[in-house]
Amino acid sequence: MSAMQYNEKIMERFLSPENIGEDPEADGIGEVGGGECGDLTRIYLRVENGSVTGARFTSFGCVGAVAAGSAAAQLALGRTPEQAAEFSAGEIVEVLGDFPEEKQHCPENAALAVRRAAEDYIRKGREKGK
Ligand code: FES
Repeated sequence: MSAMQYNEKIMERFLSPENIGEDPEADGIGEVGGGECGDLTRIYLRVENGSVTGARFTSFGCVGAVAAGSAAAQLALGRTPEQAAEFSAGEIVEVLGDFPEEKQHCPENAALAVRRAAEDYIRKGREKGK
């Protein structure tokens, strides 16, 4: 076993995560889970007038998944759905710093959940013929 250690920013974010909780009224929902660790992260986006006005997350996962989910939700705010659909894990790392070697997929999963939520919103709009 390697000595895995999270940096301070990740620990702080984990201990008081902003934007946590479900949003049943969300316009787009993205889910990622079932990887080797089994952690499950969901991102809930609200979109008004072409930009993300609300972003929440839930995570049944490790410290890194919770911290990354919280940062991802916060970073998604104010973007257009198209921009959110391009969201990358690197942006989470810029805010929280590096994740331990074996935890690289935590920000990857959170970023993918944002992209899926944005795509969900875009797809629903298309289905409605907007
Ligand atoms: Fe899998 Fe963190 S260990 S998301």
